[in-house]
Amino acid sequence: MSSIKSLKAIKGVGPATAQKLVEAGITTVEAVAITPVKTLAEILGCSEEKASQIAQAARELLGLSFMTAEEFYERRRRIGLISTGCKALDDLLGGGVETQAITEFVGEFGTGKTQLCHQLSVMVQLPKEKGGLDGRAIYIDTEGTFRPERIVQIAQYRGLDPKEALKNIIYARAYNSDHQVALVEEATKIIEEKNVKLLIIDSLISHFRAEYPGRETLAVRQQKINQHIHQLLRLADIYNIAVVVTNQVMAQPDVFFGNPTKPVGGNIVAHGCTYRIWLRKGKDNKRIAKIFDSPKHPESEAVFAITDEGIVDIR
Ligand SMILES: Nc1ncnc2c1ncn2[C@@H]1O[C@H](COP(=O)(O)OP(=O)(O)OP(=O)(O)O)[C@@H](O)[C@H]1O
Ligand SMILES: [Mg+2]
Repeated sequence: MSSIKSLKAIKGVGPATAQKLVEAGITTVEAVAITPVKTLAEILGCSEEKASQIAQAARELLGLSFMTAEEFYERRRRIGLISTGCKALDDLLGGGVETQAITEFVGEFGTGKTQLCHQLSVMVQLPKEKGGLDGRAIYIDTEGTFRPERIVQIAQYRGLDPKEALKNIIYARAYNSDHQVALVEEATKIIEEKNVKLLIIDSLISHFRAEYPGRETLAVRQQKINQHIHQLLRLADIYNIAVVVTNQVMAQPDVFFGNPTKPVGGNIVAHGCTYRIWLRKGKDNKRIAKIFDSPKHPESEAVFAITDEGIVDIR
């Protein structure tokens, strides 16, 4: 179906409106459903009220409004799992990284967050029987730490043609927080077309923290992060993809007992991310992962190693 034709299926969208949407790069009903109302209004040159009605109509068309519990059950049955390539870590996660959810890896520098992102962007490409989803990854890199050479190593170890593996990772460097948000919007256009099953943001908040430092800008920062995370959650739901983000920790100078660090981003991130995994360093190349704040996992730990082959079990 041409994009114009499919967009016209939305109540309130005629040929002219559909044309404007397509020209702005919003070519699917899904994209209309998750584009912020403000943006829609700007694109269409209409009131926010009108834009909101269109967004609502798009959501209804996609069945994103009320649904019966049975429909919800059916949707959840479609949840896919991406193996991390490490049995211990998969067990901790209940099989792997889930679609329709945001999984957050949090920890100090060098704990393996970026390594895990590399690993998963390869693992998602594997066929289902090998723990993948036969799909591609979108990799949004905010810190410039993506290394294609690492992908080659990991892919070789997993029996994939390294060149193919590289082709199946759609990469973008995000230079600031607005750019990061815009890239996620861009992403909505290619998810279906390119069979994307995993969206990575490494790291989620660093730009926001740098651009909105201090108390005075905290409210704005949190609001922006909140919108961003909700956009990611909707994407994960609508397209049945996994979203993986990394997050840094900050010192808690007032804590004398227990963990002296905590994830940045506060409640907004804590509530927004579906699964949160805390990483810390062990001896040598060992790392310890612990799941916390999970609605369904017991608080337990797994040990893995970072080697030339990627993320692997301790041998
Ligand atoms: N080929 C390899 N073999 C063994 N270990 C490796 C290899 N490549 C990377 N590492 C390990 O991974 C660590 C880096 O991990 P990573 O970059 O994932 O950290 P991070 O959690 O993303 O840190 P940051 O907060 O700085 O982004 C290195 O310190 C190194 O110990
Ligand atoms: Mg990193």
